[in-house]
Amino acid sequence: MSESSDAGDPTWSFATLAAHAGEGLEPGEWQPTSTPIYNATGFAMPSFDALDEVFAGTRPGFYYTRDGNPTVRAFEVAVAALEGAPLAGAFSSGMAAIHAAILAAGLQPGDTILATRDCYGLTRVLLTTHFAELGIRTAFVDMTDLPAVERGLADRPGALYLETISNPLVKVFDLPALVRMARAAGARTLVDNTFASPYLLRPLEHGADLVVHSATKYLGGHGDVTGGTVAAGDAATGRRLHHLAKLLGAVLGPNEAWLCHRGLKTLPLRMARQCENALEVARWLEAHPAIARVYYPGLRSHPQHVLAKRLLGAHYGAIVAFDLRDACREAVRAFMDVLRLIVPAPTLGDLRTLTLYPAQASHRGLTPEQRGEVGIGDGLIRLSIGIEEPADLVADLDQALSGGG
Ligand SMILES: Cc1ncc(COP(=O)(O)O)c(C=O)c1O
Repeated sequence: MSESSDAGDPTWSFATLAAHAGEGLEPGEWQPTSTPIYNATGFAMPSFDALDEVFAGTRPGFYYTRDGNPTVRAFEVAVAALEGAPLAGAFSSGMAAIHAAILAAGLQPGDTILATRDCYGLTRVLLTTHFAELGIRTAFVDMTDLPAVERGLADRPGALYLETISNPLVKVFDLPALVRMARAAGARTLVDNTFASPYLLRPLEHGADLVVHSATKYLGGHGDVTGGTVAAGDAATGRRLHHLAKLLGAVLGPNEAWLCHRGLKTLPLRMARQCENALEVARWLEAHPAIARVYYPGLRSHPQHVLAKRLLGAHYGAIVAFDLRDACREAVRAFMDVLRLIVPAPTLGDLRTLTLYPAQASHRGLTPEQRGEVGIGDGLIRLSIGIEEPADLVADLDQALSGGG
C-alpha cells in the first residue's frame, strides 16, 4: 500500500503527474528512467533489527512481495497521485479490488449495501451470491432516481456502491449529490471509476470513501494485463486495505504492475483521443437507420448529458452502446461476425476498438428479467472505442450494419 506523498509536486497538472508519479523512488543516486521489475519473492534483511522495524512500520522497506514490492509500489503511488488519495493498493484484478474495497469499508454480517442497479454483471453476482452468503445483503436501486436512493438510504445501509459511468448503458450518476446523501445517512460511498478513469473524474474530490478500478481497462490501457486498484480516501481505510491485501493475497505481481504503470503514463493522451473518437462514432451511429438508440453521455439525447458535462468536463468517456433496430440475437451475430477492424472481444479500455454483446458476455450472469429491468435489451451492443482513425471505425461499422460483403 503506497502513499501519494511520494508522488511528486502536488501543483503538477494531471498529465504531468501521469507521466512522472511513482518514478524516482529507487534507492541510490542514479535513478533508472523506469522503475525496474523486481521479480523477487522476498528481500534479504540488512540486519536482524531492521526487519523488526519494517514489520513494526517504523522503517520503510520491503521484505516479502505479497506485502510490498518496489515495482508494485511505484504503480500504487502513481494511482494514489492520480486519484488524489493518501493511499492506494494494487490487486490482481478488478474483481479482487472490489472484494477488498467492500471489506475495507468495514461491512459486517447483518449490514446492507445500497448498490446501483446498473453495474458490471459480475459485481452484481459478487454482491448477490458471495457477500449475501456472508450475511451482507444488497438492495439495488436506479441511482439516476435520487428520491429512490433516499428511500433506500432510510434502511441505513453501511455503504452506497456505484459506478461513475455505468456498464453497459453509460448512465452518469450525480456523484456529489449521492455522496452527500450517503454521508447524511451514515453510509460510506464506494465507487467503481473504471469507465471514467481519473482523467475524467476523481471521486475522492467529491467525498467518496473508496475508489476501485479494473486496471485491466483504461489504466493499463493496452489489453495486455489484468489488474485492479483501490484508492482510499483516508489513511486509516488505506491501512485496513493493506492488511486485507496481505490476508486475501490477491495482490498484483511485479510484471503486471510494471505494465499497468507503463500504461498509466499515457492515460491522458489515450483517453482524450478515445473520447473524441467515441463522440464522433456516437454521432454517426445516431444518424444511421439501422440503429434504434445510441447511448453516449456526450450526445444531447443522453438523459444525463447536462450532468455529464458538469461532472466530466470536455470529454464523456470512450464507451458507446447502441440498440439495433432489429433487436435480436441473430441480428447481433450477423453484425459481429462481419466486422473487419473492430475486434469482438469481451473486454474494454484497449487501444483498439472492441465490441461486446452484454447479454452474451458482461451481463450473462443476470437473468433475462434482471437484464430487462436494467434496460439491457436483446439488440444492445457495446463498443469500447480505441485510438484508431475514426473514419476507419465508421467505415467498418457501416459495412457491418449493411451485412458485410
Ligand atoms: C466496470 C467494471 N468493474 C470491474 C470489472 C472487473 O475487472 P477485472 O476483469 O479486471 O476483474 C469490470 C470488468 O469488465 C468492469 O467492467
